[in-house]
Amino acid sequence: MTNKDIAERGQKVVMNTYGRFPIAPVKGKGSYLWDADGKQYLDFVAGIAVCDLGHCHEELQKVIQQQAADLWHISNIYWIEPQVRLAEKLVDISGLDKAFFCNSGAEANEGAIKLARKYFYRQKEPGRNQIIVFNDSFHGRTLATLTATGQKKYQEGFAPLPAGFLYADYNNLASVEKLLSDETAGIMIEPIQGEGGVHPADPVFLNSLRRICDREGIMLIFDEVQCGVARSGHFMAYQSYGVKPDIVTMAKGLGGGFPIGAMLATDKAASGFAPGDHASTFGGNPLATAVADRVVELVSAPVFLDNVNKTGGYLKESLESIKDERIVAVRGKGLLLGVEFSAPIKDLVTICMQNGLLLLGAGANVMRFVPPLNINEIEVNQAVNIFKKSLQEWKE
Ligand SMILES: Cc1ncc(COP(=O)(O)O)c(C=O)c1O
Repeated sequence: MTNKDIAERGQKVVMNTYGRFPIAPVKGKGSYLWDADGKQYLDFVAGIAVCDLGHCHEELQKVIQQQAADLWHISNIYWIEPQVRLAEKLVDISGLDKAFFCNSGAEANEGAIKLARKYFYRQKEPGRNQIIVFNDSFHGRTLATLTATGQKKYQEGFAPLPAGFLYADYNNLASVEKLLSDETAGIMIEPIQGEGGVHPADPVFLNSLRRICDREGIMLIFDEVQCGVARSGHFMAYQSYGVKPDIVTMAKGLGGGFPIGAMLATDKAASGFAPGDHASTFGGNPLATAVADRVVELVSAPVFLDNVNKTGGYLKESLESIKDERIVAVRGKGLLLGVEFSAPIKDLVTICMQNGLLLLGAGANVMRFVPPLNINEIEVNQAVNIFKKSLQEWKE
């Protein structure tokens, strides 16, 4: 079976929702993938910031095998031991108090929006139901989360959209202040915008949002689906800003490739939910939480985080040293980096792929670098060399 065979069969039966590249990776190990034609790639996409320990990590394989032999799925109507273990770790590391588990980033964000609203409903303030969100954000593809997403292209054709979302400008405090009212339930923001072009929040801005939320008695909600779980060089990106949210969501890297999402909240915020208010059949099942528990243990270790910062710093410096007048900026934290160009980078992604390096865009002009968090400097050098060669071949 070749790449072409798989693509032709897929086109007949798989819904046409993705602009797919014409390759079908069939094997992975560490930072490398091999496609059905046997071609090798250095993977700086990592399942879009998901495979934080690379592909087919041996310790995670063992955890899956052991848990698969013990118990896969029960239901949240019973206590799930690996889920409790994972919640204990996340609560301990995050400084928040309670966890809810689900299956994806969008689902975690839906939960956060529901929790903020239900909290005020229980406080006898049902009119406090608006969430301030940001232009160029990305929060997911469900109806509420694509409405929370401040990019029109994701909303087109899906009207009527849920009410209650107001859009401010990222890193612009005045634009937030203007939208506040006695109907505001919370402010939802990515501490580092990922899909929107890899834009870290300004520390003063993020701290000011905390102050506003305290002043107004409303929820500060961080979407750390992409920037969380060690990707920024801290376990949670907000830890590098010294700002604690009332609610935070995570997903992507949490299961190292096994689907899982989570929402953490303070006891106060979490008191918005009572039994029956929110649920997810698969959320936090034994298999997913056993894997995530080991991922969290590995990636939260100080030596691991130090290495993300070191390798991320090295990659950033290497990208900054590239002399190409089409490069406008190099941004990001840890191993969530973006190189902004003066032109659309679609063809450059394809050239890099042909040269054996997988990368992806974040918006039209930004090349995103989100490799496994355990890559080493040799792999970084390899990637940067392929990237430089591809730049030379890239004619706009
Ligand atoms: C910041 C952020 N929030 C939410 C999502 C949605 O996550 P999922 O695709 O798991 O629903 C993404 C996905 O890219 C994201 O980057």
